Amino acid sequence: MAIISSKPQPPSDPSAEQDKSDRPVHKSPQGSASAAKPASHPGPKDAAQSDNTLLQPAANAEETSKQEESIRPQRLSDYVGQKALKEVLDIAIRAAQSRQEILDHLLLYGPPGLGKTTMALILAAEMNVNCKITTAPALERPRDIAGLLVGLQKGDILFIDEIHRLPRVTEEILYPAMEDFRLDITIGKGQNAKTRSLPLNRFTLVGATTKVGALTSPLRDRFGLVQRLRFYELDELTQIVLRTAEILATPITEAGAAEIARRARGTPRIANRLTRRVRDYVEVKATGTQITDSLAAEALELFNVDPCGLDWTDRRLLTVMIENFAGRPVGLDTLAAATGEDAQTIEEVYEPYLLQIGYLQRTPRGRIPTPAAWRHLGYQPPETQLALI
Ligand SMILES: Nc1ncnc2c1ncn2[C@@H]1O[C@H](COP(=O)(O)OP(=O)(O)OP(=O)(O)O)[C@@H](O)[C@H]1O
Ligand SMILES: [Mg+2]
Repeated sequence: MAIISSKPQPPSDPSAEQDKSDRPVHKSPQGSASAAKPASHPGPKDAAQSDNTLLQPAANAEETSKQEESIRPQRLSDYVGQKALKEVLDIAIRAAQSRQEILDHLLLYGPPGLGKTTMALILAAEMNVNCKITTAPALERPRDIAGLLVGLQKGDILFIDEIHRLPRVTEEILYPAMEDFRLDITIGKGQNAKTRSLPLNRFTLVGATTKVGALTSPLRDRFGLVQRLRFYELDELTQIVLRTAEILATPITEAGAAEIARRARGTPRIANRLTRRVRDYVEVKATGTQITDSLAAEALELFNVDPCGLDWTDRRLLTVMIENFAGRPVGLDTLAAATGEDAQTIEEVYEPYLLQIGYLQRTPRGRIPTPAAWRHLGYQPPETQLALI
């Protein structure tokens, strides 16, 4: 399986997955070439690189992403959890293989780090086809997407990350490509404009997004399979930590793995990151020993990750809501301004987990911290707080 990445890779992008030397060249049908462009405006993954958070690593991102690649599961059988998703895809793969057809277009959605890119790569490996990886903001001009589409061979997977950020022109080119495997290109301008249709090889589009609601319905409707990724359970994350520690050749006890898993916000990427941090700590502070639950807890306290997995930024968001707004509903932009965080990052990276564990609620008038959040941070929730929920 060849992996060709056309992901834009600004230096600060923690999700960058390959070396810069891999940056591809998009060939347009006319034969001119252009490098994939980085996103024109920062997305949640580029923004708010706080040193106080383990959600978005600022330092040695390249090293981290290389390690992430070595840990990434390669086959469906290595992919822990997401039982329902795996069942659906297993059936789709087997049906496609037995009919010698291609996989239906697939849309994967869910918070960052739950395994969307990993699943796209696994699908390509299971189907034994190539996977071309790109990201929506890199597809700014029609020729960017046209170049990718004409280069696809039968059955290939085209993976478009952050698909909710596709420019309108690109999206319109995708409609006939997805439906009829046809590339409609317009040549010339104004009265002399002509539309040409080029047949394409049948391919599978895998789209990934953290914001499924931001997709236009014509695009969403063209995916035969739409699947949501869920936060992982404690036992699944424990298994992921054990697997990662084994790959890193780091001795760890089951309780040590569970302690890391408990603080990983239901997210494999965070579980892996915390495992690496704890490994560093244990190597320096307690050479020669294995990772136990008490050592893991000690290390993660040092990195400001509390027993619920909340980091500095989570606690700051909740504290500002409690202290500055006395728990009254706060709008997203106001919260962003009051905390100095990026609104999109709050919405896509921090909020989903706080909502999931019941520390935050969204009401029509704004976000409110729940009594559980007040207590977790050591505050006594006022009686009126209950009435707001
Ligand atoms: N089910 C899983 N089992 C084991 N490890 C996993 C699983 N899912 C994800 N991972 C690990 O978590 C890391 C992040 O996963 P991945 O890059 O696929 O997330 P993502 O959903 O694409 O995130 P983003 O929205 O930020 O692009 C991977 O490097 C992989 O090692
Ligand atoms: Mg991804």
